[in-house]
This record gives sequence, C-alpha cells and structure tokens, in this order.
Amino acid sequence: MRNILIIGGSRGIGNEILKYQLEQGNKCHNLSRTECQVKDSNLIHYNVDITKNELPSIDTIDSVIYCPGSIVLKPILQLREEDFISDFNINVLGAVKTVKHYLNNLKKGDNPSILFFSTVAVTQGMPFHASVSVAKAGVEGLTKSLAAELAPNVRVNCIAPTITRTDMAQKILRNERIEENIASKHPLKQICEAEDISNMANFLISTKSNKITGQIIHVDSGMSTLKI
Ligand SMILES: NC(=O)c1ccc[n+]([C@@H]2O[C@H](COP(=O)([O-])OP(=O)(O)OC[C@H]3O[C@@H](n4cnc5c(N)ncnc54)[C@H](OP(=O)(O)O)[C@@H]3O)[C@@H](O)[C@H]2O)c1
Repeated sequence: MRNILIIGGSRGIGNEILKYQLEQGNKCHNLSRTECQVKDSNLIHYNVDITKNELPSIDTIDSVIYCPGSIVLKPILQLREEDFISDFNINVLGAVKTVKHYLNNLKKGDNPSILFFSTVAVTQGMPFHASVSVAKAGVEGLTKSLAAELAPNVRVNCIAPTITRTDMAQKILRNERIEENIASKHPLKQICEAEDISNMANFLISTKSNKITGQIIHVDSGMSTLKI
C-alpha cells in the first residue's frame, strides 16, 4: 500500500487522483478547506487552508501532489498588485510550504515523488493570463530546481494542462458555444477532462515513471507545441 498526500483532493483534478489511488488500495491523506464526498476507510481528511493554517503531521508519505491554483484572467491594466501576490501565494508559496513541511518524511518513502501543476499559458502566451502565468512559471522553476536538489532520492515533476472541465474552469466554460469555440482552437479539437490530467498524474507518481524527473509534461490537446 502506498501513502499519497494530496493538497486539494476534495474537488477537480485532485479528486480524480484521490479516487483512483483509493481504488488501487492506497492510503490517501487529503488536505483541503472542504471535505470531499468520497468515503473510504483508507482516506483521511484534514481541514486545512494551505495559505493560513499549520499543516498536520503525517509520518509515512510516498508522494505529495499539490493541486491548489487559480485562474484570475484580466487585462494587465485591471490586474492589481494584490492579484499577483494572491496568485503567487496559492500557486508557489503553498507548494513551498507543503514541501518544506513534509520533505523529511517523504525522503523515507517508497519511490518518493512530488507533483505540481502549471498551465499551458506559461509556454503559450495568452491574453489576460499575466498574473497566473507569472505564478505558474514560478511553479515550473520550482519543479526543475527541486528535481535537481532532491535527486537521486525524490522525483519532482509538473503537469501543465490546457483548460480542463473542473470547478475552477466553470466561469470560462459557461456555455456550450464557448466550450466548442475553445475546443476548436486546440489541435485535437478537445478540451481536457479531469480524468485526462489525473491519468498522467497517477503515472507520474507511480514506479512506472521512475526514470522521469524535472519534467513539465503538457497535457493540452496539442496546444503548447502545434500550430495546425
Ligand atoms: N481546470 C483548469 O482549467 C486548469 C488549467 C490549467 C491548470 N490548472 C491547474 O491544475 C490544478 C488543479 O486545478 P483544478 O481545476 O482541479 O482546481 P479546482 O477544481 O479548483 O480544485 C482545487 C482543489 O484545491 C483545493 N484548494 C484550493 N484552495 C485551497 C486552499 N487555500 N487550501 C487548501 N486547499 C485548497 C480545493 O479544495 P477546497 O476548495 O475544498 O479547499 C480543491 O480540492 C491547479 O493548480 C490549476 O491551476 C487547471
């Protein structure tokens, strides 16, 4: 049985990862502000706001997955300094706080790994994404830096998704016409489902990916690399 720590397993991509890991018989520790709907004897929930609360002690950890993020899309003239600070706090400093708190225990884990989330908007410039792309570029830098620092013991990777159907993207995917329009801009003509991203996440924290570290993996229907 593996021990998986998910920050943000109550909803969205983190919740898909959590459900799969429980199905595999692994133990999951979920830290989020609200409890998730899933009930399982292998699931322990901790009520935590990563930006405010102290983190609980967890002795045995094999993987840490940090899911909290943000989509604050505004023209640069409307983006306030506080928007940049808030995006940096939730995306970067929350991840740093998590790693610092659990690293010593994680190092003792079985094939230990850390997984972060970026966005396609770091590689592919997109209007109105200045604040979130600055914060997520920080996450990508953190991924590579920690992967170097923690090798050969702990693998560190990051997934950069395109828009994915979760609560976070609800305001953007607010009707079918908008959704079709956004999908049509992708080479594969599809946006992502949470499961598309969790499939990659589950691979990256498994022993099947034990030669992969320091990577930013794009799960984005071809958005970041293709122009067709
Ligand atoms: N969805 C997209 O279109 C998309 C695109 C590109 C990148 N991403 C990135 O992918 C990651 C996952 O996104 P998602 O769409 O699954 O997001 P989501 O549906 O909003 O879920 C975020 C999870 O993080 C938790 N969380 C948020 N703030 C928290 C806080 N302060 N303290 C503790 N937990 C917190 C939430 O739980 P509670 O609310 O219960 O605390 C929830 O479980 C994010 O980093 C996001 O930036 C998403």
